[in-house]
Amino acid sequence: MTEIQIFIDKIKNSQNMAVLTGAGVSAASGIPTFRGQAGLWKKYRPEELANPQAFRSHPDIVWEWYAWRRDLIRKVKPNLAHYALVEIEKKIPAFTLITQNIDNLHQLSGSVNVVELHGNIMKSKCIDCNLPTSDNLNLKAGLPYCRSCGGLIRPDVVWFGESLQIDALNKAQTAAMECDLFLSLGTSALVEPAASLPYLAKANGAFLVEINMEETPLSSQTDIFLIGQAEKILSEITHYL
Ligand code: APR
Repeated sequence: MTEIQIFIDKIKNSQNMAVLTGAGVSAASGIPTFRGQAGLWKKYRPEELANPQAFRSHPDIVWEWYAWRRDLIRKVKPNLAHYALVEIEKKIPAFTLITQNIDNLHQLSGSVNVVELHGNIMKSKCIDCNLPTSDNLNLKAGLPYCRSCGGLIRPDVVWFGESLQIDALNKAQTAAMECDLFLSLGTSALVEPAASLPYLAKANGAFLVEINMEETPLSSQTDIFLIGQAEKILSEITHYL
């Protein structure tokens, strides 16, 4: 049996599967990844922008960066990797899709049980009172402020130095602990706490599979590491389910 055949067999027999996705899953939709050869961070250094201190000091620059990404994301569509995950979800009694992506493409493709670990770029909230606000901000007209407390409105995403939403993290950790099959898909597996989820799954007895274009720190710990494009490998797999 090849490794792909073993993975197909594991999917067919899984009662409870968890998948952790990262920027690599949306790459084929035209959204650049953060790290790696074609990564955004080679060009821009948004780690300096994606934190609350940077936002308070330079809200205009941070908003410009997010407005650019919002425009880009509005124009793209889910790709074969997203649709393959929708098909896999239909076949397995319990399925949790944990994503670090903030682009909404899993929901758009039809995935149902999605946990957004890092928020959603299309949502906004007040930096002071946390009140969510509508998406239709006219950023060209100046910085947006909270109608309730007057604080600055910010993108509702998790920035460096911030904690994840506790509900989302709890759901993700429970899914990792309870699944019998865990797939790490298109993520550099570097950013905590998401990076610990595959190890948590494995420590609780799950079969661990990774699909990535290149080796990551996780690869040597997996039961199966499939090197290649998520969209290609997963769409092939769905033909056999
Ligand atoms: N198929 C599979 N893997 C791919 C593909 C593809 N088509 N294209 C790229 N990859 C892989 C890269 O090899 C890399 O390992 O996807 C990974 C993308 O890694 P990152 O850019 O680091 O993205 P991610 O792991 O999602 O980053 C985690 O870090 O920047 C923060 O909050 C941000 O959610 C993000 C988090």
